Amino acid sequence: MRDKFNRGIDYMRVSVTDLCNLRCFYCMPEDGVCKRGHGDVLRYEEIVQIVEEGAKIGINKIRITGGEPLVRPGIEELVARISEIEGIKEVSMTTNGILLDGKVKELKRAGLNRINISMDSLNPGKYRRITRGGSLERVFRAVNTCLEEGIKPVKTNTVILKGINDDEIEDFARLTTVLPIHVRFIELMPVGEAAEVYDKYYMSVDEVMAKLPGLVPAVQGMGNGPAECYAYKGALGTVGFIAALSHNFCRNCNRIRLTADGKIKPCLNSNVEVDLKPAIREGKGSVAELFGAAIGQKPEKHHMEEMQDAGGNRRMYQIGG
Ligand code: 5AD
Ligand code: SF4
Repeated sequence: MRDKFNRGIDYMRVSVTDLCNLRCFYCMPEDGVCKRGHGDVLRYEEIVQIVEEGAKIGINKIRITGGEPLVRPGIEELVARISEIEGIKEVSMTTNGILLDGKVKELKRAGLNRINISMDSLNPGKYRRITRGGSLERVFRAVNTCLEEGIKPVKTNTVILKGINDDEIEDFARLTTVLPIHVRFIELMPVGEAAEVYDKYYMSVDEVMAKLPGLVPAVQGMGNGPAECYAYKGALGTVGFIAALSHNFCRNCNRIRLTADGKIKPCLNSNVEVDLKPAIREGKGSVAELFGAAIGQKPEKHHMEEMQDAGGNRRMYQIGG
């Protein structure tokens, strides 16, 4: 389906929970978040039903996100059911990797094609401080298992934090010379908890790139993702840059989001939400029409740069990045 700005919408990010087993300081309050009422969160059957309707209007790629998707029991089963839906060509996941290692085989068997693993430091102590308690070793083990099991591509996400992990930029980029992974640097966005620390820690991708001479532009060939792609000569993987603020990527945006409580968000940074629950639970309205209404309200740009606290009425862990 095309939106008002003639962008083809074929990708849906599906958040399966707001909960997370980490507390990254720029994302989550230290003492966590209120649990939603159980009935608020979509059941797997409901998600499957929504994806089936989405596939009929041209959604062909699904990414499972959270919070942290792997804290929700039985996620392999959801992946399996989604990957069997006619028209769905790709199922991917964004995870912090903490619970991933033991589940890679099953996820792969269920049809998971691609994975993005968050990793904001290569130093175990620093990683623990950023995430307020996470074990980098577990994440690294999961990265290796994904490579062994043939999940492709394996991408890592690093939010650049000035004065915290900017001394590791080259180490991250150099990982691509020894592992076939795609390392991506993400600009901190002033969303949720990050709104308060944004001025202190924001660093633009241009500043990051300036620290990485020797990278040359690489063919991306991976759809409409927001990353600009580079590589070292002869490297096994690539280095990507996601500049939400300094280089607006909305012109090629191909995505919508489904929140854990059943609302379609046409843009990361928008208060517009179209609730699918009445259609699914009470037969009030058609899901296909509601998809159309949501896509029809997709703004041209996210306008995040003009805001104090972007993200609309939701926080990042409620949107899934
Ligand atoms: N700005 C940029 N990225 C963020 N993430 C979470 N909060 C923010 C923010 N304010 C990242 C996570 C993860 C991805 C899903 O989104 O670190 O890598
Ligand atoms: Fe959890 Fe991801 Fe937020 Fe960290 S950034 S607290 S891993 S949802």
